[in-house]
Amino acid sequence: MKALTLKSLKAPLELEDRPSLSPGPDEVIVQLKAASLNRRDYWITQGLYPGIEPPVVLGSDGAGVVFKIGSEVENTWQDREVIIDPGMDWGDNQSVHSDKFSILGLPRDGTFASEVAVSASQLHARPAHLSWQEAAALPLAGVTAWRAVFSQGGLEAGESVLITGIGGGVATFALQFAVATGADVWVTSSSSQKIERAIELGAKGGFDYTSEDWAKRMGKEAGPPNLIIDSAGGTGYRSLVNLAAPGGRIVNYGATAGRPEQLDLMKVFWKQLRLQGSTMGSPVDFVSMLKFVEEKQIVPVVDSVAQLAEGNNALNQMKSSPQFGKYVLTME
Ligand SMILES: NC(=O)c1ccc[n+]([C@@H]2O[C@H](COP(=O)([O-])OP(=O)(O)OC[C@H]3O[C@@H](n4cnc5c(N)ncnc54)[C@H](OP(=O)(O)O)[C@@H]3O)[C@@H](O)[C@H]2O)c1
Repeated sequence: MKALTLKSLKAPLELEDRPSLSPGPDEVIVQLKAASLNRRDYWITQGLYPGIEPPVVLGSDGAGVVFKIGSEVENTWQDREVIIDPGMDWGDNQSVHSDKFSILGLPRDGTFASEVAVSASQLHARPAHLSWQEAAALPLAGVTAWRAVFSQGGLEAGESVLITGIGGGVATFALQFAVATGADVWVTSSSSQKIERAIELGAKGGFDYTSEDWAKRMGKEAGPPNLIIDSAGGTGYRSLVNLAAPGGRIVNYGATAGRPEQLDLMKVFWKQLRLQGSTMGSPVDFVSMLKFVEEKQIVPVVDSVAQLAEGNNALNQMKSSPQFGKYVLTME
């Protein structure tokens, strides 16, 4: 098998030949057709993640065909076309994951490879309307967006939602899910091209978060949003608290721009806002997300596709996030 392996931090991943994998009793080996990148992979290469122990094969997202099954796995999985839920050991509590929770691709070897070993419980049938590349783009970003928008954000048709940093993998799924639900969707980006793409996908409009008065303009032009889905945090978080509608919710699943410098608690309690954190999603979230994607025939937005061996180029691009949607690696 081929594997794109992290051997040391801040250095390119190395393409290795490794022996073909063998499954444990409750595991399967998936012959991967495609994988996709997440910002997490980039953070890990830069040493900005806890528990990094090279060598490790990165990659949380993958789609492929089951070609070996463990002794305790139902043989109906053999030869099935699957996508993989990257979350492991969520636990029984839907409100939060257990302290055993981990994500495929660190510490466990992940999907930047031609084969991956996973528990049979992580397998789901590949949605029939998706190509291999589209299917591989879905899992981590899709379930994170699902949980942020619905399980935590409680978005309903007719509400207004603001999604910051559009073009990011999760943000783009959040946009597609919110549009499919019948919400009025607004976005922010530093790029007018990304805002145009978001409008093509059904957003009502967008604002450049680098301009001083964007939140005031949004308040006037679009009205205050009931729900804000944010992964930037940083100094801009203040504007989100100012902008949210009274009784509104702000869900954060990331802090790309760092910690907010200040939080105006007076506004939080007077407007009766709910500030909600969100991380990945439970197996229940994953199944609900897949069902919705199939019902609404949602097609993940793939920015570009490269061969596995070219994975370092895609990772390097993540430094400045020029992408709209997901970077995909193909093994075919
Ligand atoms: N908690 C979880 O389970 C979870 C899961 C997935 C991701 N995350 C986190 O979520 C974040 C996004 O990840 P991703 O992979 O979806 O996205 P990504 O593909 O890395 O995209 C990053 C996006 O962030 C936007 N951005 C950067 N600085 C910004 C700022 N100051 N204000 C608003 N937007 C800004 C950029 O938009 P512009 O080009 O317009 O500037 C870009 O489109 C990362 O921090 C990641 O670690 C968390």
